[in-house]
Amino acid sequence: MPSPTLVNSVTTGVETAAARALRWGFGQALPQFAMRTAARRGDLHGRLVLASNGPDMPLELFEEIRAAGAMHRSKFAMVTASLPVVKEVLNSHDVRSGVDFNGTGAVGTLQSWAFDRAPLGPLTPPSLLVTEPPEHTRYRKLVTRVFSVRAVQRLRGRTEEIAASLLDDLAARADSPVDLVHDYCALLPVTVIAEILGVPLSERDRVLGFGMAAAPSLDLGLTWRRFRRVDQALLGFDQWLGEHLASVRRNPGDDLLSQMVLARDYDGNGLSDNELKSTAGLVLAAGFETTVNLLSNGIALLMQNPDQLRRLQAEPDLWPNAVDEVLRVDPPVLLTGRTVVRDTEVAGQPVPRGAIITTLLAAANRDPEVFTEPNRFDVTRENAAEHVAFSSGRHYCLGAALARMEGEVGLRTIFDRFPELQLLEGAERRSTRILRGWEVLPASLKA
Ligand code: HEM
Repeated sequence: MPSPTLVNSVTTGVETAAARALRWGFGQALPQFAMRTAARRGDLHGRLVLASNGPDMPLELFEEIRAAGAMHRSKFAMVTASLPVVKEVLNSHDVRSGVDFNGTGAVGTLQSWAFDRAPLGPLTPPSLLVTEPPEHTRYRKLVTRVFSVRAVQRLRGRTEEIAASLLDDLAARADSPVDLVHDYCALLPVTVIAEILGVPLSERDRVLGFGMAAAPSLDLGLTWRRFRRVDQALLGFDQWLGEHLASVRRNPGDDLLSQMVLARDYDGNGLSDNELKSTAGLVLAAGFETTVNLLSNGIALLMQNPDQLRRLQAEPDLWPNAVDEVLRVDPPVLLTGRTVVRDTEVAGQPVPRGAIITTLLAAANRDPEVFTEPNRFDVTRENAAEHVAFSSGRHYCLGAALARMEGEVGLRTIFDRFPELQLLEGAERRSTRILRGWEVLPASLKA
């Protein structure tokens, strides 16, 4: 007779596999099928989901959506490319963050069963990204206190040291081509965030591996194989983080994770284990998964616009503005979604409860009503910082100050150190849809 432990682990394995298959069906395959069908009939939102799969920003489609109105009603969702309307939606208290295609009755029950078994992820409650007040306010206050702007300013010197040491490693191999994404853009943010959080350097590659494998978790329409890989990476990350936090709890230091473990709100309440894991996991993953793209997008844009690079080399004070212009023209996050929680109005139009609104951050950043010649990359643009690459409202990126500082240090340092840098053939964009950046940027460091 099989032992009870064996029976238990087989049952758990079967349950995990069944829940995963259902999550893929409900969350990926069905919406993808519906979007494809709609796209074939010309639906703009359906076409957007398919087009964002490609390497290039779907600029023509952005303009079609813009021309269709400030708030276009497609078959599945309302979609906006207007910067003021994107801000109106993201600042509204009539919407909640996140989007789900919840069914009712038996289907709804099955969906809840499967999604309740989802591994920790950026879009799984209690992640900050998908919670709303009062919980969101409580989590955010605890982390914001720990993640202060002063702390970011203190990190500038250390970030410069890390960038310099990574570039020393590159210089040692300057005779042959290097991949700037793998050898620099990915390593700078993960090293900085790991240091802030107190994750030992020896764990850096592991954390980077989880992050890279889990990045498509924000996308819709993953194949079963890819979904399974992502799900497994999230599970691995969940497990690793649980063990790491337990050791931090036993032995707190003066890093941010220790402070989060010890943080209490005014009522003396801290974060529960699950809340802590979710918040710490999001900060850790968001801390490098997006900034790697800011760096690679910035390098590519500056190489494509040598006049702008020369301007920066002549006037280094322009670097902070240049970083905002990179974020405006090629933002690392394409879009975000909201669900309407009560009948309301947006852009003067009635919007019913339950409607889904897609705010196209990348298209809003090119709103011609706000930015003159929006498709021009101009490091001197006066209102570059009006972009919504970091979103807006209560979910505004917690790490915006850190990302801007890393972007500035990371980009300025590499171009100062290697003024002859040239990109080589073989550059590839990442295959993720929501997170946009380069997978590979081969380069020669010497002319
Ligand atoms: C260029 C780099 C970055 C970009 C473009 C970016 C972008 C964003 C965006 C668009 C959102 C909001 C999504 C929404 O409204 O649905 C967000 C939220 C968030 N970001 Fe960032 N991010 C970056 C870097 C960072 C860094 C370095 C951290 C590390 C602390 C971070 C931590 C977070 C967190 C914790 C949230 C959730 C905030 C909330 O929901 O209250 N991000 N980010």
